[in-house]
Amino acid sequence: MDTTKPEHYSQNRSLQQNIGVELLQQYMRWEGGDTVLDAGCGTGEICKYISQQPGVASVVGFDVSPDFISFASQHNSSANMRYHVSDVSDASTIKPEWQGAFSKVMRPAHSFIPSARLQT
Ligand SMILES: C[S@@+](CC[C@H](N)C(=O)[O-])C[C@H]1O[C@@H](n2cnc3c(N)ncnc32)[C@H](O)[C@@H]1O
Repeated sequence: MDTTKPEHYSQNRSLQQNIGVELLQQYMRWEGGDTVLDAGCGTGEICKYISQQPGVASVVGFDVSPDFISFASQHNSSANMRYHVSDVSDASTIKPEWQGAFSKVMRPAHSFIPSARLQT
């Protein structure tokens, strides 16, 4: 799979979607007013799924790729969602207002984020 082109990635990510949704359904308990960060949101399908769960107030998707954020904004948006280009390994790309703003943080299975950067 070409993970550099959002159109191609979005059309060929059913495995990621199935595993992501299954893990969320099995292990995640949403609480009223949850503010969720998806750190490495890709094309935004999981963000959209999360935004539709009962109790979730808002979802923010970060991705280092401007092309993926553009695709997510166009194809997987709703009123309680926002997308931003951010490199979560580089604190200078993360706006100060995001510090401590999230009740839950999602990240892809492969780890690229120093855990100290994700304190909420
Ligand atoms: C395997 S994809 C998963 C995308 C999405 N979560 C999904 O379920 O389809 C990993 C994503 O992490 C993003 N990524 C990689 N390093 C990153 C970083 N340092 N900061 C933000 N996003 C990053 C990539 O651009 C890519 O979209």
